[in-house]
Amino acid sequence: MNAGELVEVVLPGKVEPEGLRIRHGAVPAAGPGQVLVRMEATGVSFAEQQMRRGRYYDQPPFPFVPGYDVVGTVVATGEGVDPGLAGVRVAALVKVGGWASHVIVEAADVVEVPEGISAAEAETVVVNGITAWQMLHRKARVRAGQTVLVHGANGGVGSVLADLARAAGVRVIGTASPRHHDTLRRHGVVPVDYRDDVAARVRELAPGGVDAVFDHVGGRGVVASWRLLAPGGTLVSYGSASTRDDEGSKQWPVLKLLARVWLWNALPNRRRAYFFNVWAGRALAKNAFRARLRADLTQVFAALRRGDVTARIAAELPLDRVADAMRLAESGTVAGKIVLTP
Ligand SMILES: NC(=O)c1ccc[n+]([C@@H]2O[C@H](COP(=O)([O-])OP(=O)(O)OC[C@H]3O[C@@H](n4cnc5c(N)ncnc54)[C@H](OP(=O)(O)O)[C@@H]3O)[C@@H](O)[C@H]2O)c1
Repeated sequence: MNAGELVEVVLPGKVEPEGLRIRHGAVPAAGPGQVLVRMEATGVSFAEQQMRRGRYYDQPPFPFVPGYDVVGTVVATGEGVDPGLAGVRVAALVKVGGWASHVIVEAADVVEVPEGISAAEAETVVVNGITAWQMLHRKARVRAGQTVLVHGANGGVGSVLADLARAAGVRVIGTASPRHHDTLRRHGVVPVDYRDDVAARVRELAPGGVDAVFDHVGGRGVVASWRLLAPGGTLVSYGSASTRDDEGSKQWPVLKLLARVWLWNALPNRRRAYFFNVWAGRALAKNAFRARLRADLTQVFAALRRGDVTARIAAELPLDRVADAMRLAESGTVAGKIVLTP
């Protein structure tokens, strides 16, 4: 790749992975308050699997450049930005636009990556780490000695969530297909096959119920998650993976989850339910949102450096092999994050 050339991946519409296009252009300039980041690592999230089907509830209109998060080095600073940021390795949550050799980001949105963490390692915990940390410590507020259920404990968010919970002294039951069970056990997770009767198995393991359930599956299964809670327990619903291949409105599955959560909280009971969204609150209080994100990602990077969290890099592929990266992410064989490099 030419150092002065922009290379980006374009999602032109509802396409198979091979329909993603590579576009070449001029590197953009950082405007006031912005920085230009030379990408060193970005990644495939479940969101892109939904976006290529037109199923992510607030994706922009086609065509656009996907890429939920990015790690890279600041190569230029715009007006009003501390020039000392140039040369610093940073991470940012962008929702779209990360699958590019160069990314423009608001300077206030970047978080410095500490020494001793590679770009690919950092990438495994940007959106995944912020989401996991906030659900665990800001929503469920777990305490040592508790037991939680993590669905999809082999996935990008699920694996970081399990590590962070274990580091907090929490017992973790994790659902995954059997091919991932040995890995889960090595990370201190009690595995359950999600194709079995999960509720019955979890009740055997935690007869009084669990203190929190983290559910990205959505659909009707979320009712079973709610019923598994012990008194005082918290359900954190944060996705609708089970409706990825459905037809119809892309907002409807999330609206149904929101309605369920509202209803459950309105009932007289000692359990709580949340629908978590990593972007919540940004529109209303940008500075508070940024401060929270910075504090939480800093905690996750520290956990990574201590070894409390393992950077699970399932594969590293260059941007021009994005179709293979998507296929791999959707293969059901992956443990951890597929990282894209320039
Ligand atoms: N609300 C938020 O702010 C937020 C932020 C980030 C992510 N998320 C959500 O978190 C979830 C995980 O994202 P990720 O990037 O970590 O994805 P990922 O690395 O691709 O992992 C996806 C996980 O979901 C499982 N899965 C795939 N299809 C499924 C289905 N139909 N039913 C049940 N499980 C299924 C996978 O199991 P196999 O490997 O066995 O297929 C894997 O464990 C997604 O639903 C995503 O939308 C939400």
